[in-house]
Amino acid sequence: MNSKNQLTATDNAEVVVPCIELDPTLAFFTSELGFRIEMITPADNPNTAIISGYGLRLCLRVGGSGKDVSLRLRSATRSPQLRQAPNGTQIEIISATSQVVLPPLQEALVISEFASDASWTIGRAGMRYRDLVPSRLGGRVIASHIHIPNGGPVPDYVHYHRISFQMIYCKSGWVRVIYEDQGESFVMQAGDCVLQPPEIRHRVLESSDNLEVIEIGSPAEHETFAEHEIKLPTSTLRPDRDFSGQKFVRHIASESPWLPWRFSGFVSRNTGIDKATNGLASAETVRGEQFAVMSQTNHEFSLMLLFVLKGSISLEVDSKESPIIFMVGSSITIPSDCSFQLKIRENDSEFLLVQVT
Ligand SMILES: [Fe+2]
Repeated sequence: MNSKNQLTATDNAEVVVPCIELDPTLAFFTSELGFRIEMITPADNPNTAIISGYGLRLCLRVGGSGKDVSLRLRSATRSPQLRQAPNGTQIEIISATSQVVLPPLQEALVISEFASDASWTIGRAGMRYRDLVPSRLGGRVIASHIHIPNGGPVPDYVHYHRISFQMIYCKSGWVRVIYEDQGESFVMQAGDCVLQPPEIRHRVLESSDNLEVIEIGSPAEHETFAEHEIKLPTSTLRPDRDFSGQKFVRHIASESPWLPWRFSGFVSRNTGIDKATNGLASAETVRGEQFAVMSQTNHEFSLMLLFVLKGSISLEVDSKESPIIFMVGSSITIPSDCSFQLKIRENDSEFLLVQVT
């Protein structure tokens, strides 16, 4: 269907960049930055040139200073730098590689207690966000408790994230999602979990009322790209596909057995994230009998996050203070040099334990 808003292959455009003198500016863009000339006019005394490069078309035109224009150019071969063109235009060359840079870790004991008046931030599409780790551990991690009060279709589009780690755990309600090379869409129920390996294309389709999920990602600030070419579901089914050293995981709680855990009085459901990430991260749902104790002196992870799913637990950190009681919805990050003792207060209390190296 044709619409006057749709673009055709012949539609194109240039950004006009003014200059006082055309020659030096044109020479800089072509010789120094690698742009190529598309058009120049008039022949006897040029005052306008169209040049292209980096997916960009510019119209250099005599008529003033270009100091109010700034350009960001992504290059896989040029080193990141700041330049100024002869017309005054600022040029920022940034890396085009897809490497994820993790900021230095700043460990901290971060407690987020859940209360009915918890501070939620309204995000896109009516989703409510609760930041579980406001310090972000120096930018290393983001952990969000996300609530969708009103279910129905989610206005999402196919996209992907430039991350080193990202998982979603369904706390309550259900959500329908679809992933590249993983077949048809599927529904995540409470206790189910997915590992979204780096740059896997995906889309959230619909949810129940009162959906609650826990989303954990690293680094905290990462880029999200819209995907216009790949449609979901993809025609290929490749559950074992490697995405930058990680495989997709769909953990279905109801099909996963409770197995004895490393502390007595506990059982756990392993999501399989440890295997799929080659040990980069792990996520388990842990269930404990009343009075069961998990006691640990330090750990080797950059992130150890606990989120209470059922019942309540108490936690004593570094034997200093009186135990803190954690109810459903509360979370804590434990720094690597902390010793702590976790006690189950009610039978069959459950928590999500996520550890990232
Ligand atoms: Fe996403």
